[in-house]
Amino acid sequence: MPRPKLPNASPGPLTGPHTAPSAAGQGAVLEPPLHTTAPTTAPTTAQQQALAAAVAAQAGRPGALLPVLHALQAALGHVPPALVPGIAQALNLSRAEVHGVISYYHHFRSQPAGRHVLQLCRAEACQANGGEALASAAQALLGCAMHNTRADGAVTLEPVYCLGLCATGPALQIDDRLHARMTPERLAQRLHGLGLLAAPALPASPPTGVPALAGARP
Ligand code: FES
Repeated sequence: MPRPKLPNASPGPLTGPHTAPSAAGQGAVLEPPLHTTAPTTAPTTAQQQALAAAVAAQAGRPGALLPVLHALQAALGHVPPALVPGIAQALNLSRAEVHGVISYYHHFRSQPAGRHVLQLCRAEACQANGGEALASAAQALLGCAMHNTRADGAVTLEPVYCLGLCATGPALQIDDRLHARMTPERLAQRLHGLGLLAAPALPASPPTGVPALAGARP
């Protein structure tokens, strides 16, 4: 009686992520891919010069990472990912440590900001004094969500946590100028004055994708 034919039990080609054929025909174990913060582009000359100046200003001082990052953002407008290896090497840190600090603090940007930067206080005293309505108004007026740069590159909208004007909030900062007791209406006028708004008035309805304006202070 003929025996039933068994299915082919030979293994197919090795397609797993951790094996690859070697010259000897045997599978070689590969290291799993490492999480890396390696930049995809090399730093520009201007970026390298900014880093050299920032590091030189902190030479020999402990805890130099934050001052160096502040100096780079002041000089370049952001901390380019391409500089992370150079920062790490200069300060004898790992790339992960540098990347961790940059990503932990909202203050540091990895991408260039818009031509104007609107920083809106989201801390408690301002929140209790109309800050939520002001945040909604800012997003509706600019057509740009918090943490983002508008599509035309004109303005970046960022939250900050206290601008030192707690008693006169809600407060915000546009570029280098602080503004206290801000209302949605005053914000609309200010943005219009900067050319960021076609009309000095609140929109009848917010653009899609941003929270509706609610609870504006009288
Ligand atoms: S809480 Fe807004 S300025 Fe201090």
